Amino acid sequence: MNETLTLIEQRRSLRSYAERPVESETVSAIFRAALRAPTAGAMMLYSIIEIADQTLKDKLAVSCDHQPFIAKAPLVLLFAADYQRWYDLFLHTGIRDRCAAEGSSLRLPEEGDLLLACCDTLIAAENAVIAAESLGLGSCYIGDILENYEFHRDLLQLPKYVLPVTLLCFGYPKAPPAGKPVPRFPQEYIHFKNNYRRLEPKELDDMASRVGRLTEGTDPAEEVWKFYRRKFDSDFSREMSRSVRGMLESWKSGI
Ligand SMILES: Cc1cc2nc3c(=O)[nH]c(=O)nc-3n(C[C@H](O)[C@H](O)[C@H](O)COP(=O)(O)O)c2cc1C
Repeated sequence: MNETLTLIEQRRSLRSYAERPVESETVSAIFRAALRAPTAGAMMLYSIIEIADQTLKDKLAVSCDHQPFIAKAPLVLLFAADYQRWYDLFLHTGIRDRCAAEGSSLRLPEEGDLLLACCDTLIAAENAVIAAESLGLGSCYIGDILENYEFHRDLLQLPKYVLPVTLLCFGYPKAPPAGKPVPRFPQEYIHFKNNYRRLEPKELDDMASRVGRLTEGTDPAEEVWKFYRRKFDSDFSREMSRSVRGMLESWKSGI
């Protein structure tokens, strides 16, 4: 295995950080890596907001499903899907008038544009994760930034075409990671050739027993039930869906 593959293989989410600030050159290197990520049409359909203010971190630690470690992370970056910059550029360069001259109207960002921007955003985020790891830092994604859209929009002054996609916490580890790495499902459940294949009942039994191993329970079906309750049918996932519906409505509502 080469150095890059070893780094990817050994990376684990880090939720506890040494009280050591991240040096500005290190932050710059992480940003540089994020900005070099592949991006649809080289449009860079994302923005990265560095949450430097402790009061903002404290608020996010609460609004992102009460995860206190967010407030203690030395470097916190919000990765947001962003069509605002391009839309503003269209307006600034008179594209609306050119459309009108052609008898058409300026097209507003739609669902496809949003999904493409989300792709850009997450690819940049993962570049940042890998760069940070290579510099000795650990990181953790915070999916709960998808909750409480209205609160996050107002807190960070996000305009209409900027939607929060993920938050990343970074910091130096206090100690080498303890415990085993979180296992993954086997490649044959994920990697198909030429067409999609739904898993067979015996594979689903195996998947259930792997869920059991993840949670260290003994009865696989019971563990899947607990997983369903804790992850899929939980208050946070309901709030996430409510919040994302709000984001989509705002995005689609036109200027
Ligand atoms: C989209 C996404 C959202 C996540 N959200 C959270 C989160 O809100 N809080 C948290 O502690 N970990 C979060 N994680 C980290 C996962 O729990 C972690 O990646 C997973 O358990 C596998 O562990 P590993 O990264 O150590 O291999 C998130 C990861 C991803 C990719």
